[in-house]
Amino acid sequence: MNDLSAWPGEVLEKIQAAQRPLILSGAGMSAESGIPTFRDALTGHWARYRPEELATPEAFAQHPRRVWNWYEERRRAIRATRPNVGHHALAALERRWPTLVIVTQNVDGFHQLAGSSSVIELHGNIQRSVCSITGERLSDEQLLASDQKPPPSPYAREGLARPDVVWFGEALPAAALERALSLASRCDLLLAIGTSGVVQPAASLPLLARDAGALFLELNPEATALSPHAQHVVRSTAAVALPALVERLAA
Ligand code: OAD
Repeated sequence: MNDLSAWPGEVLEKIQAAQRPLILSGAGMSAESGIPTFRDALTGHWARYRPEELATPEAFAQHPRRVWNWYEERRRAIRATRPNVGHHALAALERRWPTLVIVTQNVDGFHQLAGSSSVIELHGNIQRSVCSITGERLSDEQLLASDQKPPPSPYAREGLARPDVVWFGEALPAAALERALSLASRCDLLLAIGTSGVVQPAASLPLLARDAGALFLELNPEATALSPHAQHVVRSTAAVALPALVERLAA
């Protein structure tokens, strides 16, 4: 059931007045699609694995097969599920607010699948693979041409296919980061959804927005590193509170 009380009237009025709204989403956005987050104490990826063994260039250099297989498993899990009603609610918000932009740390592509058209992927996309040396994109045919795991890259002799995601210690895609920073410094509303706010530089976007005068709202069932900086906090989940927001805005 939608929790309409999550969005009190005075907050709703400010949301309605926003002209340049920006969303920052994190793993909690897709939790209700059945995709584990990273830091939830019992179910998160980092409760079961050490990031440095799976999500660093060093891990891939030492154990390419182990890293590739972990990403294969995650790709399969993502393909087996769908965007949830929270993703669909954001797509509906964009229809109402064509200037709405989503900056996401998620690599599942679910915002786009739900119909959002203005999405900035800060950490890449798990369904794409690139050459570990040149960064060139590999097609499905190129990936399927070999049984090797990871498949060899056709672009460089020592190259392997790797997921097109940002690993710890790597730089974010420059154009995406530049756009996100610029939008955060110019937006008048930033809503952070389902992120623990501990991974930089994404975690700095709400503070940048707030310091530049925007209203900063957080939607998260738990307190986060960002909570003390938010002007209003909605303690609910994405799939509950976002459809409620759409409903309230339409009323
Ligand atoms: P985290 O796993 O750190 O945080 C997930 C957040 O989602 C937590 O604050 C939860 O309380 C919240 N949450 C859980 N269920 C939710 C729900 N149903 N609705 C809303 N919120 C919910 O994930 P991120 O902050 O996205 O980086 O992590 C940031 C980055 O760290 C990831 O992009 C990934 C990871 O290492 C890379 O892969 C580069």
